[in-house]
Amino acid sequence: MFLPKIYPSILAADFVSLGTEINKILNDADGIHLDIMDGVFVPNITFGFPIIESIRNFTNVYLDAHLMIVEPDRYLERFASYVNSITVHYETVVHLHRTIFEIKELGCDAGVSLNPHTPVFLLEEILPFLDKVLIMSVNPGFTGQKFIETTFAKVKKLREMANKINPTLDIMVDGGVNKENIRELSVNGVNTFIIGASIFHKENPSVEIKELKKAATGID
Ligand code: DX5
Ligand code: ZN
Repeated sequence: MFLPKIYPSILAADFVSLGTEINKILNDADGIHLDIMDGVFVPNITFGFPIIESIRNFTNVYLDAHLMIVEPDRYLERFASYVNSITVHYETVVHLHRTIFEIKELGCDAGVSLNPHTPVFLLEEILPFLDKVLIMSVNPGFTGQKFIETTFAKVKKLREMANKINPTLDIMVDGGVNKENIRELSVNGVNTFIIGASIFHKENPSVEIKELKKAATGID
């Protein structure tokens, strides 16, 4: 059993007070999730290098970049100069093996994300080389969407695959995660939870992270 990790997604934070927002979660979070959207792969545009650089200068915490952009290879080197981990979408990359090795050569953890409609069996050949897989439990683009229930079975399938070929794989889930579904996700094999609204839209984000971790482990 893995200890659950939580990476809050700052997409749900108040960008005017980003430093204050980050300070609210730093003591309890295991990392920060950065949602990079280009308005082409997904119907939203978020933020880019100037903001990421400011966050890097503000804290040494593990930065987990989730690239929802077409042609991510063009920007890997720049992202790698600021973040600790880069996850690309399976749906955006043609030569995934090359992309994953480039991310590793740049000194980052390497991950692949799957849209809700993309089956986990497509990862079979690349799985031995991955540090993490990010399963989207909403259609990527926005914070605060409703969790797609078929995700439970999907992560279970992925954990079964990983147990055979990459037992230390970090399995992450992203979108609509809350206290109601986190335990079932954990039981099915998720060990890292990306959570936006259920942390930043609450009165006390630090307390929320503690409670979410307890819920994930099944402790009341
Ligand atoms: C969605 C993003 C998520 C999102 C999660 O495209 O990848 O990281 O911000 O936010 P919540 O937890 O609010 O669904
Ligand atoms: Zn994300």
